[in-house]
Amino acid sequence: MTEKANVETSEAEIAVHMQEEAYFYPPRDFVAQANMTDESIYDRFSLDNFPNCFKEYADMLDWYEYWDEILDTSDAPCYKWFKGGKINASYNCIDRHLPKNKNKTAIHFVPELEEDAVQHITYQELYVRVNEMAALLRDFAGLKRGDRVTLHLPMSAELPITMLACARLGVIHSQVFGGFSGKAAGDRIEDSGSRVLITMDSYYRGGKLLDHKKKAEEAVAKAAEDGQVVDKVLIWQRYPGKYSAATPIVEGRDFMINDVLKDFYGVRVEPERMNAEDPLFLMYTSGTTGKPKGCQHGTGGYLAYVTGTSKYVQDIHPEDVYWCMADIGWITGHSYIVYGPLSLCASSVIYEGIPNYPDPGRPWRIAQNLDVNIFHTAPTAIRALRKIGPDEPAKYNYKFKHMTTVGEPIEPEVWKWYYKVVGKEKAAIVDTWWQTETGGFLCSTLPGISPMKPGSAGMAVPGIHPIILDDEGKELPRGAGKAGNICIQNPWPGMFQTIWGDRDRFVTNYFARYCKNPKSKDWRDWPYLTGDAAVEAPDGYYRILGRIDDVINVSGHRLGTKELESAALVVEEVAEAAVVPVKDDIKGVVPDLYVALKPGFDASDAIAKKIMDALISEIGPIAKPRKVWIVPDMPKTRSGKIMRRVLAALSNNNDVGDVMTLANPDVVELIKNQVQK
Ligand code: WTA
Repeated sequence: MTEKANVETSEAEIAVHMQEEAYFYPPRDFVAQANMTDESIYDRFSLDNFPNCFKEYADMLDWYEYWDEILDTSDAPCYKWFKGGKINASYNCIDRHLPKNKNKTAIHFVPELEEDAVQHITYQELYVRVNEMAALLRDFAGLKRGDRVTLHLPMSAELPITMLACARLGVIHSQVFGGFSGKAAGDRIEDSGSRVLITMDSYYRGGKLLDHKKKAEEAVAKAAEDGQVVDKVLIWQRYPGKYSAATPIVEGRDFMINDVLKDFYGVRVEPERMNAEDPLFLMYTSGTTGKPKGCQHGTGGYLAYVTGTSKYVQDIHPEDVYWCMADIGWITGHSYIVYGPLSLCASSVIYEGIPNYPDPGRPWRIAQNLDVNIFHTAPTAIRALRKIGPDEPAKYNYKFKHMTTVGEPIEPEVWKWYYKVVGKEKAAIVDTWWQTETGGFLCSTLPGISPMKPGSAGMAVPGIHPIILDDEGKELPRGAGKAGNICIQNPWPGMFQTIWGDRDRFVTNYFARYCKNPKSKDWRDWPYLTGDAAVEAPDGYYRILGRIDDVINVSGHRLGTKELESAALVVEEVAEAAVVPVKDDIKGVVPDLYVALKPGFDASDAIAKKIMDALISEIGPIAKPRKVWIVPDMPKTRSGKIMRRVLAALSNNNDVGDVMTLANPDVVELIKNQVQK
């Protein structure tokens, strides 16, 4: 209940009506063992100590040669971190752990089929396999330092093995999410100029063994059409020694990695001494329009940043069993399944399949059996598990000390379920806000220092200094509770170096808007535009409202879609909610609200009314949607994000465009029949 809806807001502001939630404090036993409990870290990483503060992260790594300049801004906003330093990421994630920890599990690979054995790969075994693969890439595939290679691999132990083999040679890997189409892989092959594609014959998803090799054919064809020839396709086998796909092998182009590896048994490859600023990998952002952007991440800066944040924010200790349920095909997987955790010598869990196979208890069985103590996932997965198996976590005996949420704003209701039911009120939770471009976390509480606030990412992490700007570039007062465009004032080691092959686009997309002097070599003149809308509360906690484009302007009140969705989720029956703008002659736009219900509830006018009332009472009459559509499911991307663009097209009677890349394209037709009758 709030009167706040009547507060005047100017055109440039986004009305914020959400109540600030109460704090939750991290459990005492968590704090007692936490890596970082010293509040002075925020002083050490203050702007006054920038950029030298990041030495602390670089010192967590082993360098062949130390750098002579911590930050070179001579080509701003393309920065060079730790210039002059020489380092190898594969060495830091493997070799340096061998003297003390060679028998420790580096990777637990959990196949989707429960009857298949879990593989526990020690650091020694990882060392052997990465070396042999590196030898194969060098001597059989002819890859060398600076070359790009496209990986289109499913969740498997072979994926990090391939990445680390590339890193050992200084070959720039570009892993494309396995669920993406062959065509999407082809676009990225062309853009990166890869002549080698590394794939797998098949993998399990939802209990079915999918023919993944089929996509390699599409990818190679698409790349060729665009002018990039792939001369070798290297194929891992899901079951080594047995080809498990129906798609034929192309003689002279396709090679089974397991066969070729036999020639490299026992070979060791000396890690390349890379310059700190040499690229480590490309990660294409999954933009829905335009050419995909290859975010180029460097070696020394990136590795230092993901190691430092894995230690302080993820609280990873070498003895932890850490499970991030994201896909390695996304930045989350690169930074916080592979590079960060392995650099810290943790055991990292890789799960092949979907969380609810064969039933929604699966994640908690995995957690119980491997004794996972750090768990990391996205709100979309949390909402799905809450929807289909709300009582499952209680049936299993695991204990998480720490849990993470990433990728979208989390509604406070969902956060509380995560905390109480999944975490059994025993875990510290971090809500980590960041992007493919940023390499690592931007905002999050430090779990051993600050309390948690549901729905709020928390303060900026050490060394990140956000500002919220209005449309004119004026800074909003700190802690004002007003929303605007959140930018980062300073560079940091994990940020991408450029867009592969397109520096202009890098500058235009991310810096041009607020840069006053495009010739400047001073980082202070180059605030980084995240593209998100956010609000800073008086306590310095940031709440991310979503992409700037997702803001809805109703009669001059700019409403964050997320706060409307959060209000809908207060209604007990609601599992998921999405708000989209509909054109309206009078108000400009009005919100349309889509909801999916938890199992066991049927759509009814009574529920629709209850939801409508909740929005009005939680936010105010201004938030009243044109209509509440109760739909069977939300259209979603393969990474689980709700496709508001598709819903908006349906609501506005526009063409939905190509929906075949969605995880559930069929649902679009169902919703269309409902909405456009
Ligand atoms: C959103 C994922 C709110 C945000 C690591 C950002 C979030 C985009 C959060 C980047 C969070 C990510 N709270 N929103 N904790 N984390 N986002 O590139 O809009 O896949 O700009 O990187 O996701 O998505 P990306």
